[in-house]
Amino acid sequence: MHIGILTGGGDCPGLNAVVRAVTLNLLKHTRARITGIEKGFYGLIARKVRPLTEASVTQILHEGGSILGAHNSANPFRWSGAQGADVSGEVIAFARELGLDALVVIGGDGTMAIANRIHQMGLPVVGVPKTIDNDLMHTERTFGFDSAVAVVADSLQRLETTARSHDRVMILETMGRYAGWIALEGGIAGGAHAIVLPELPYDPETLANLCRQRQHDEGYTLICIAEGAKPKGGDMVIKEHLAHSPDPIRLGGVGDALRLQLQQRLDCEVRSMQLGHLQRGGSPTAFDCVLSTQFGWWAAEMVKQQAFGRMVVLQNNQCSSVPLNEVAGKIRHVPLDHPLVRTARSIGVSFGAEL
Ligand code: F6P
Repeated sequence: MHIGILTGGGDCPGLNAVVRAVTLNLLKHTRARITGIEKGFYGLIARKVRPLTEASVTQILHEGGSILGAHNSANPFRWSGAQGADVSGEVIAFARELGLDALVVIGGDGTMAIANRIHQMGLPVVGVPKTIDNDLMHTERTFGFDSAVAVVADSLQRLETTARSHDRVMILETMGRYAGWIALEGGIAGGAHAIVLPELPYDPETLANLCRQRQHDEGYTLICIAEGAKPKGGDMVIKEHLAHSPDPIRLGGVGDALRLQLQQRLDCEVRSMQLGHLQRGGSPTAFDCVLSTQFGWWAAEMVKQQAFGRMVVLQNNQCSSVPLNEVAGKIRHVPLDHPLVRTARSIGVSFGAEL
């Protein structure tokens, strides 16, 4: 048996732990040969592969990033290196040339959409859910999420002492393009007073009222906002800014836009910061090391059982799997009646608009 492994999309803490678990499980219990595909599907397009051995994976459990590398836009169905051409036929041909019996694809919704089509073209695939955003369908957790939440929580704690000392409103912008899971859990863990999610367009007036009250009572305010959050009324932020200032400054993200909106309404200082890739870099937390190892083990078991065309999921804290086409290209949003939203509201956290 000859199995290929690739890590698609952006990097994420825990990727190497999955690669390690899949490789060690298969090498220890089967006669499989394992090939690492470099930089996601790019490696199958550009023919960049290398063998994975016990020696090459034993020490990578805690290593951040991906030892196989990452390539954000290596889509064989729309390959930018060939002006958007469909090179999927060449990818399948190369996989056949290598003698691959199956491919373990570790990635997010976009990667799973590609994996699903590759599987339908005849190359058997097992998917493993990866994203710090935790927004893949049918799985309670993706690895990398816990590591990102830990960074957000730590950052909010650090911002609290400086916000309190200077009587400031501090805004922390987290990752989370489409879903607000990182902002929600990171915000709760870090003690934010307001959490702004992509799932609920925020009202700057509501947030300004919260800040006014808090600045009066406690002297400082912490706001945690997901990068995909939007104000009610869309591009109103820019228009509002330009109405107050002729300076067409470039906004640094939604956190920065919110800073301008609040600054126009408040007489205290408002600062914002974008946490960016700090949430994605570095080693996985212990939780993510365990989850990644479980996911890798389960993916290897699926290869042995030839349970192809499916992605590993965590449901009721147990590994199982669902068909790839049920997760491909789909997003799991934060439901506004989620128990964590209710928990946060019950202790006075604002979500920036009426729920
Ligand atoms: O999907 C994971 C993610 O970390 C998002 O939260 C974020 O918007 C995006 O990747 C950033 O990707 P890039 O590194 O390509 O800018």
